[in-house]
Formats: sequence, structure tokens, C-alpha cells
Amino acid sequence: MIGLKHLHKTYPNPSGAPIVALQDINLDIQAGEIYGVMGPSGAGKSTLIRSVNLIEKPTSGSVFIDGVDLTTLNPQALRQARREIGMIFQHFNLLSSRTVARNIAFPLELAGLSQKEIKQRVDQLCELTGLGQRKQAYPHELSGGQKQRVAIARALANSPKVLLSDEATSSLDPETTRSILELLRGINRELKLTILLITHEMDVIKRICDRACILDHGMILEEAPVIELFSRPQTSLAKKFVLSSLHIDLPEALEKQLVAEPDDQCVPIVRLTFLGQKAGEPIMVSLHKQFNVTTNILQAQLNWIHHASIGVSICELLGQREAIVQGIKFIQSEGIEVEILGYVNPTATLNI
Ligand SMILES: Nc1ncnc2c1ncn2[C@@H]1O[C@H](COP(=O)(O)OP(=O)(O)O)[C@@H](O)[C@H]1O
Ligand SMILES: [Mg+2]
Repeated sequence: MIGLKHLHKTYPNPSGAPIVALQDINLDIQAGEIYGVMGPSGAGKSTLIRSVNLIEKPTSGSVFIDGVDLTTLNPQALRQARREIGMIFQHFNLLSSRTVARNIAFPLELAGLSQKEIKQRVDQLCELTGLGQRKQAYPHELSGGQKQRVAIARALANSPKVLLSDEATSSLDPETTRSILELLRGINRELKLTILLITHEMDVIKRICDRACILDHGMILEEAPVIELFSRPQTSLAKKFVLSSLHIDLPEALEKQLVAEPDDQCVPIVRLTFLGQKAGEPIMVSLHKQFNVTTNILQAQLNWIHHASIGVSICELLGQREAIVQGIKFIQSEGIEVEILGYVNPTATLNI
């Protein structure tokens, strides 16, 4: 549905070297998919999403929507094509002098619908976005979540095939964020709408995306189905994002005592990631029975991503050095990711 091919964007910079915002971006987003682009500030996320409807004109490369390369269209055809693409923003961009109903009506007025058709459509959109009671309110009378609902209703007014979301939940509190993401998920299912969203929050990706990529310095570092991205992040940036969103860290007191290289006294602290497996318990029993290695669990968490579970636990492995090495091989052979975070003297964990 959305295809970006060899997309480059360079901004001129009067006071120095040109700014390279996007470098050879290639993306293929399927119809009905919710696709997330995640990256730190300045990575090029906004430039990327603004290129999809050509608000930002790429320096080179193509942008396909439903098989049509938008970069080849004349201005009139481009205006027409843009009706198929709705967009929502972090700061809502509502018209402050218009009521909720008239904000939503705005794109319908531009499209030349009759007053009767507009009223019908506005009622329908208010119903869909849960704004039935607030039609006559002005933006300053609304909460952040309600404002974003108005923006979503307005973006959907012309029944687009694609919705672009530029950090739409970034200025909302966690609970409102959840309700807006649920609304987007519902709309995606009900209307078969393709959604491309960008965010700097991994939680957003985890909650609603089917696939996602990590963007950094204008380049795609990795791309995967969300469940894979979380269970097997490849790059160090992806690992950092994933871990920060799983909210699982080493106790600070222990982190300070970690060393990279073991001496004779030291035992490893490992992070085990269980993808879909029921639990870590049977593995730990086997480790003890087969290798006489004891597992001391320091942190554990189970995360649900769509219908799959990812368990993460941070453990200390106690036993003979060679037995621990064999034990780790055994865990890996069971399909569990093992990462050695460092080594500590076993007495360290007694005091935390
Ligand atoms: N209109 C512009 N003119 C010049 N440089 C820009 C412009 N917009 C963005 N940039 C630069 O391009 C890079 C990517 O910016 P942006 O796409 O806004 O990243 P993000 O949304 O990930 O924070 C940054 O270095 C930014 O300073
Ligand atoms: Mg941005």
C-alpha cells in the first residue's frame, strides 16, 4: 500500500554542510497493516512521514501509494491523491475558532459536499471517535485526548486509505495514550485502514504495531515484525529501546559491581529472554538436575505483545565454571536467548 524506494532527503544549510535527513530509505507497507517507525530525536522520522504525502519533497527516490508514484503526479493529481492520505500530529493542529463539528467538517467543505452530506458524515465520525457529546465544544474546552479524537475524525473525513501519525500520543498522559492507541487499532480493524506511525516511544510500537523499523541518522537500522523486534533485537540501539520499554533493569547496587571479565570467584549474571515458551521454571529445574547449576532470579517480567508472550529474567548462575558454560549452551539449545551482562562475586547478590 505504501512503498518508499531509494528515498533520499537533504536539507540545504546556509551556515554549513547540507543536512542529510534520509538516506536510501526502502519500505514496503502492506494494506491494513499498522507500521511503526521508531527512532531518537533528529533521526529523520518526521521527514520520513512528511515525505509520504509529499509535504516534504524528497531529494530523490519514489513514493508509491496503492501502486501510484506520487513524485510523478502533476499538482492537481497530487491534490487528489492526498485525499487518500489522512494525517494526525502531536499538537493536534485544530482550528481554534471552529467547533468540534466544524473542524471535522472542514475537509468535507473543501471536497464540496452538501450541508446535508457533511452533517451526516460528521455525525458518523463523531460516533466512531467517541465525540458524540462534544460536537459543539471549541478546542480550548477539550482535553488533550479529546482534541486528538477530533484530529483523528477530521483525518478520516474523506475516507482515506492511509493514516499517517506523527507522534500523535507524545503529548498525552499514559492512560490517554492507551485510549487513543486503542481507537487507532479499532479504526484499523473496522475500516481496514493502513496506518504508518512514527514515535520515539517503544511502548507505542509494542501496543499496536504489526511491524516496525528502527531509524537512526536517516537510515533504517533494522526492520521486523514487532514480536521479533522485541524478542531478538539485532542492533545495540534496538536493544536499548526494547529494554527500556520492558522496564527491566539490574538493581543499581549490583550493576556497580559487575565486571566484564570473570576471575576465579565470579559467576555470570545473565538475561534470559523466553519467546512464547510457557515459563523459565522447567529450564531452571533441568539446569540444576543436569549441570548442578543453581539459578538465582534477580528480576523477572512477562510481557504480552499482541497474543504472544515475552518473558525476561535476569539471573545469577551458580555452579562450577565449566558446568555453567555447558548450562548456558543447553539454555540456548532450548531456543532461549542468553545474554551475559557481566560477572559478580556471588556474595554481591546477597546484599541487594
Ligand atoms: N525544514 C528543515 N530544514 C533544515 N533541516 C531540517 C528541517 N527539518 C528537519 N531538519 C533536520 O533533519 C534532521 C531530521 O529531522 P526530523 O525529521 O525532524 O527528525 P525526528 O522527527 O526524528 O526528530 C534533523 O537533523 C533536523 O535538524
Ligand atoms: Mg519529529
